[in-house]
Amino acid sequence: MRECVIIDGARSANSRAHNEKGWFRIARPDEILTKVYDGLFARNPKIKPEDIEAVFVGCANITAMQNDIGRLAWLAGGFPESVATNTITQQCPSGMSAIEHAARAIMCGEGDTYLAAGVEDMQKVFMAMHMDFAPRLMQRYNIAEIPMGNTAEKVAEQWKVARVDMENMAFWSHKKADEATKAGKFKKEIIPMEGLKDDGTPFVVDTDQWIRGDISMEQMATMKPAFKPDGVVTAATSSPLTIGAAAVILMERSKADKLGLSYHLKYEGGAMAGCDPTVMGIGPVFAVKKLLARKGMKVSDIDIWELNEAFGSQSLACLRELGIAENAPFKNVNVWGGALALGHPLGESGCRIVVTINNIMKTDYPNAKYCVAALCGGFGNANAIMFSKA
Ligand SMILES: CC(C)(COP(=O)(O)OP(=O)(O)OC[C@H]1O[C@@H](n2cnc3c(N)ncnc32)[C@H](O)[C@@H]1OP(=O)(O)O)[C@@H](O)C(=O)NCCC(=O)NCCS
Repeated sequence: MRECVIIDGARSANSRAHNEKGWFRIARPDEILTKVYDGLFARNPKIKPEDIEAVFVGCANITAMQNDIGRLAWLAGGFPESVATNTITQQCPSGMSAIEHAARAIMCGEGDTYLAAGVEDMQKVFMAMHMDFAPRLMQRYNIAEIPMGNTAEKVAEQWKVARVDMENMAFWSHKKADEATKAGKFKKEIIPMEGLKDDGTPFVVDTDQWIRGDISMEQMATMKPAFKPDGVVTAATSSPLTIGAAAVILMERSKADKLGLSYHLKYEGGAMAGCDPTVMGIGPVFAVKKLLARKGMKVSDIDIWELNEAFGSQSLACLRELGIAENAPFKNVNVWGGALALGHPLGESGCRIVVTINNIMKTDYPNAKYCVAALCGGFGNANAIMFSKA
């Protein structure tokens, strides 16, 4: 089997998906995505858009502005018509799925160079837009238990995750994201692009909008439950509605060597797993276990983890169930903060956490060997991906 390496990865900053306050409130998701491509091609002059075998783009809600966004963004961005594109969806893991499709194609010899991306604008294409549930689905499940927030409450109840532990997780997520931002850690991955301040003034967006350096446990304790009156999940312990795009260039290893390109991580494999959609947040447990079992590895073999924080409840339940960590602050998980602080533009996140873990491994843990990124997805689809130091 051939080897697949990450040549480079980049992303936009994540903006709030808010009609009045969102920094990208008038930008289109296709524009944000192609600005990320532009940034990647500009800093990798040895790779031309026409050299790309195909572009895989993950997006959760493929409707309206995001309908076949893989193809339409590529064409709108002025990129060559001859390059094939494939928009794919797997809800939140969509962007990770895109990377896996590209990596597998490289490994089995269908092509040498791929672009894999993830994108979502949760303001202009809101969650569940144009959704039409099958009547038979409603016979199989209590439909009131399917929306994401309700699944987060159910996971908190079944896995006994206390509200204060979720708030503590949010606290550390923001603190780490704030520290990483101030230390310039995201500079390498964020492609600056124009946005709007609250008052409508244009400015260059190069940091994530939701991060709160001044987050307080006391204030979070006063917040109302977001999804049910007697619930434990609040806006602080839910990933915020956000807008963003991320992309990676993947290449067959010997081709990268021939071109004299540097790389840090090599693709080791991915695993998808399905679970009960009413507790979809627990899905990464099954995906990670499957991946580790296939590789003949244990949790302790993995140096660095990115476990997407869709909700504090599900993320903590997964970390505990897998025996990775009990409570924040974590040693080797979401090292530069997670989605509770950085945001979670659904289809983007699976790709974003790979972009980030690539940079974490390169800059903070240059000698670490293995890393895994994983995330849950709406309706019970989870995904996990492993890389090793190349
Ligand atoms: C929880 C949720 C419903 C809240 O949405 P919302 O009511 O629009 O609220 P916001 O996110 O704008 O936050 C509400 C307020 O609480 C504040 N807030 C949020 N977290 C806070 C914190 N840690 N400390 C203090 N204030 C906080 C916000 O700043 C906001 O006030 P502002 O507009 O004045 O800034 C929404 O974020 C959500 O649905 N998240 C989950 C998304 C999802 O399902 N993703 C898929 C996962 S699988």
